[in-house]
Amino acid sequence: MCGIVAILGQHEVAPLILESLKRLEYRGYDSAGIATVDDGRLGRRRAVGKLIALSDLLVHDPIRGHAGIGHTRWATHGGPSERNAHPHMAGGVAVVHNGIIENFRALRTEFEADGIVFETETDTEAVAQLCARELARGLPPVEAARATLRRLEGAFALCFLFEGEDNLLVAARRGSPLAVGYGDGETFVGSDALALAPLTNRIAYLEEGDHAVLTREQIEIFDADGAPVTRTLHTVALENFQAEKGLYKHFMAKEIHEQPGVLADALARYLTPDRAAVRLPVPVDFTSASRIVLVACGTAHYACHVAKYWFERFARLPVEIEVASEFRYREPPLDAGTLGIFVSQSGETADTLAALRYVKATGGRTVAVVNVETSTIARESEVALPILAGPEIGVASTKAFTCQLAVLAALAITAGRQRGTLDAAEETRLSTALATAPGLLSRALALEPEIAEIARDLSRASDVLFLGRGSMYPLALEGALKLKEISYIHAEGYAAGELKHGPIALVDDAVPVIVLAPTDPLFDKTVSNMQEVMARDGKVLLLSDAAGISWAGEGTWRTLALPTLDPFVAPIVYAAPAQLIAYHTAILKGTDVDQPRNLAKSVTVE
Ligand code: F6R
Repeated sequence: MCGIVAILGQHEVAPLILESLKRLEYRGYDSAGIATVDDGRLGRRRAVGKLIALSDLLVHDPIRGHAGIGHTRWATHGGPSERNAHPHMAGGVAVVHNGIIENFRALRTEFEADGIVFETETDTEAVAQLCARELARGLPPVEAARATLRRLEGAFALCFLFEGEDNLLVAARRGSPLAVGYGDGETFVGSDALALAPLTNRIAYLEEGDHAVLTREQIEIFDADGAPVTRTLHTVALENFQAEKGLYKHFMAKEIHEQPGVLADALARYLTPDRAAVRLPVPVDFTSASRIVLVACGTAHYACHVAKYWFERFARLPVEIEVASEFRYREPPLDAGTLGIFVSQSGETADTLAALRYVKATGGRTVAVVNVETSTIARESEVALPILAGPEIGVASTKAFTCQLAVLAALAITAGRQRGTLDAAEETRLSTALATAPGLLSRALALEPEIAEIARDLSRASDVLFLGRGSMYPLALEGALKLKEISYIHAEGYAAGELKHGPIALVDDAVPVIVLAPTDPLFDKTVSNMQEVMARDGKVLLLSDAAGISWAGEGTWRTLALPTLDPFVAPIVYAAPAQLIAYHTAILKGTDVDQPRNLAKSVTVE
């Protein structure tokens, strides 16, 4: 949440900062701002709303300077307004911040007792005030920033720019990710490698508690104890950061349609060349595990939910799925037999990271399933498995979900093989089925015109229900999440058999009920639940294969015929129509599909 970029450059930095902020807008788009030092003087421009508003402002009221910091905000403390937009300034310092300063109320009270009036409702202003006070006391800028950092509690990434200092930046990381970049006679700071991609491909990630002092000539990094340290310099492949929409109107559409390709690439890394077995790119030992704990948030959590069915069936291991934000506060008892699997597209989700640290601290083993291979979750886990989806820019997760499922499927098969609960023939059947997923997904995407047509009716609904059984139940949850987050239509997913225990009271002819039902061993049971809905005038959209539709399609409102498939891969393939339903409904509602209201892609606060 919130994106940070800072540049000590050779030319005007405002256009470059703006360009980098565009790549960080997925982290929040409530407001944006830039501060620079020009002729020794600090100046800033801020605007509410998306980056385009700041960009327009800079056309009419440009800001000059070769040193600057920029920020795109996802509001935590204080609503989205120009006043609350970063950078925050006090005395001779400007600050941009990602995260939460937990002791800001105490700090504010302390300043107010000294007669200092805060201009904003943000927690960040306390950081600027602290630093300004240290500067006023006569501390040089770097020492003032260090003294400030010592007073702060919480999880944050910060960057300081100082009046009179056109060749100095201080950046600090505690909890929230931050990278520094090396150019020719230029240096940079960014929330992630994506932000720095247009500026440099040579970057180092700050580690927990690090701070960095940057000039154009060098970057000095200090650890949590203040000792100078060297952090690994990575050369990032810039083609990994092609954040372009191409011919598509939205990143989400592009990412939905990229799925067959990226899924095939991912499977090429996880299946043997003959596709008859699974081979993980990095070994994971399941023989010593007595239970698996799958932890994640949002869509990644639903991927874990699907994987629970697979692990239990193939590896006969007890599996718990956990919402990361709840997990550690329960203080669940764990031991060395616990294998924690942490699934995260960004690899930076604060709650998932905290859960990973909890499992490590309690003696469990850790495996990360991530899209961003250089992310904190990848770096802090014992084993990191890439999902290879490529950059996902649309805020609503699509291709990361299907690639997460592919990697989790490969893990579950591996677990079954290692524990002797899955024989070679069964592994071959499952691996072969997995290999068909990209092609099937591509056929499912061909249903788009029909889905766009169905979306006309869906866009008029104010509530939609999704039903599924077995591994299609989590997909019902995911379908509902996708629809609500981008179309703002209220949607819920239910286990089909659970409907009659309460939610069926919602059913009438105005509530579309979307039933996800491949012809699997639970098909008849799902159909019975669907009949219960239709008996109450419910308007059912049935997603099934040709056999399922000819058996149970009569009397439904609409049907969508998906390819016939091995039910094992149904959650991967049925994800495509669920995503397209949400996408086309949102288009008709006129919402901002790539950047839906109130959301941010990378949630680095609790
Ligand atoms: C929904 C969505 C979110 C994320 C969740 C976890 O479309 O994108 O629910 O799945 O915030 O994010 P990661 O996977 O980055 O940990």
